[in-house]
Amino acid sequence: MVGIWDVKHMFESSIIIFLVIGALATTAIYYVNNSDDQQDMMMSTPVMTHNSYNNNVYDSLDGCDLFSGKWVHDKESYPLYKEVECPYIPGEFSCGKYGRTDFIYQQWRWQPHARFVLSSLSSRYLKQLGTTSSHLSYLSSRFNAKEVLERLRGKRVIFIGDSVNRNQWLSMVCMLQSVIPHGLKKMQKVANVLSLFTFKAFEYNVSIDFYWAPLLVESNADHPSNHKRNYRVINIQSIEKHAKNWVNADILVFNSYLWWMTPTIKIMYGSFADSKKHIMVSNHDGYQMVLEKWSDWLATHINHRRTQSYFMSMTATHRRGVDWGKQGNENCLNETHPIIKEYFWESMSDLKMMRILESSLDKLKARGVNVNLVNITQLTQYRKDAHPSIHRLFYSTLKAKQLSNPNGYADCTHWCLPGVPDTWNELLLAYILQRRK
Ligand SMILES: *[C@@H]1O[C@H](CO)[C@@H](O)[C@H](O)[C@H]1NC(C)=O
Ligand SMILES: *[C@@H]1O[C@H](CO)[C@@H](O)[C@H](O)[C@H]1NC(C)=O
Ligand SMILES: *[C@@H]1O[C@H](CO)[C@@H](O)[C@H](O)[C@H]1NC(C)=O
Repeated sequence: MVGIWDVKHMFESSIIIFLVIGALATTAIYYVNNSDDQQDMMMSTPVMTHNSYNNNVYDSLDGCDLFSGKWVHDKESYPLYKEVECPYIPGEFSCGKYGRTDFIYQQWRWQPHARFVLSSLSSRYLKQLGTTSSHLSYLSSRFNAKEVLERLRGKRVIFIGDSVNRNQWLSMVCMLQSVIPHGLKKMQKVANVLSLFTFKAFEYNVSIDFYWAPLLVESNADHPSNHKRNYRVINIQSIEKHAKNWVNADILVFNSYLWWMTPTIKIMYGSFADSKKHIMVSNHDGYQMVLEKWSDWLATHINHRRTQSYFMSMTATHRRGVDWGKQGNENCLNETHPIIKEYFWESMSDLKMMRILESSLDKLKARGVNVNLVNITQLTQYRKDAHPSIHRLFYSTLKAKQLSNPNGYADCTHWCLPGVPDTWNELLLAYILQRRK
C-alpha cells in the first residue's frame, strides 16, 4: 500500500514527527524515554491524509493528533507525583489512603500514534528540518513543574464544570505544587462566591481555580457539596449567575457531561424560584440548548485575545464489566490493568453528546471564537483500572448489605490521583503553552 510519494516523504515525515513531538516535550509532554520507543516512532508510518481529520481540533498543534494512541507502561516517568506528597487530594481520589494496594495503574504513559495531516503542517517546521538534533534532545525531558509555572506566570486558570473537572483541577494542582515551598502557596474556598475554589502560587502570581457548575447554567445541583438530586431542573436563561465569575480568567477549561445522563431534563424560564413556566426535554435537547446559551455568553463576554478556552470531552465510566468480558453486574472493581484492544468503546459512553458538543464548537468557530476540544474520551475508554472503585472516602456510612456487594457502590466515574487526569493536564498544557510561546 506504500506509494512512491509515501516512500519519498517517509524520512522527512519521521523528522517532522520528532520536531513536533520535541516541541511538545519542551512544554509539558514527556513522550519518549528510551531508544526502543524512539525506534517505535521511527517505524510507525505517518498517515498522509489531507482531509480525514477535523481540522478544528488539530490546527493549533499543526496537524498533530494527540488523542489516538496507546498506553505504554513506563514506571520510570510515572507517576508525576506521589499521593502522600500532595496535601490537596480529597478522600474521593485518595485511593492508596483508602486501601488500594496495587500501583501499576499509576505507571502508564499516553503515547499518541503521532499522525499528521501533512497539508496542514506549517512551513515553520519544514524550515527547521536542519535543527533536528537539538530538538531530539528534548525527547528525554520530563514534565517540569517549574517551567510550566514560569510560563503561566501572572495567569489565572479556571476549571469549570462537574466533579470530573474537579478531579482534573486537583490533578493540575498536585502536578505543580511540589516545587512551590511551604508558605508560598495556598488552597482556599473563595469567600462570598459559593462555587469557587482557588489554589494560589504567590511567587509566580498563578491562580488555578475551580468553579462548580455541573450543568453550566443555573440548576438544582448548584451547591458545590450538597447537590445530590435524582432529577434535573435547569434555568436555561440564567448562565450569568455563574459566568460573571469567569470573565477575568486567562484560561477557561470547561466540561459538562455526567449530569446530563438522565433521560429528561426540566427546563424553567424566568425566575428559578417561580416554576410556572417550564418544559420537559430530552437530555440531548437540553444539552444542545444549554450549549447554545453558553456559546452566546462566551462569544459576547470573553475577550478572546486575552482568554483561551478549552472544553474537555466526556470521560468513560466503567460501570458495565460485560463491555470487556466480565459477568453480571461486575464493573471497574478489582481491575488492575488497562484494556489493550484498540478503539475499545464502552456501551455507557454517549457519542451523541459528543456530536452535539462538536457541532456547538464548530458553530462558535464560525463566529470567530476558537474553543479547543481536548478529546480525552478515547484514552479514558481503556482505563478501567484507574478508578477509585471502593478505595475512596464515602460520605454516608455503608450498610452491611452494601458492603456485601461492593460492585454496587464502587465508584467507576472518578479517577485516582495520581492517575489518568494527570495525562489530560499534560495534553491541555501542550495546547496552552504552545499558544503562549
Ligand atoms: C497577578 O496576576 C493577575 C492576573 O491573574 C494580574 O491582574 C496582576 O496584576 C498580577 N500581579 C502582579 C503583581 O503581577
Ligand atoms: C476483589 O479482589 C479481592 C482481593 O483479591 C477479593 O477478595 C474479592 O473477592 C474480589 N471481589 C470481586 C467482586 O471480585
Ligand atoms: C474525539 O474522539 C472521538 C472518539 O475517539 C471521535 O469519535 C471524535 O470524532 C473525536 N472528535 C474530534 C472533533 O476529533
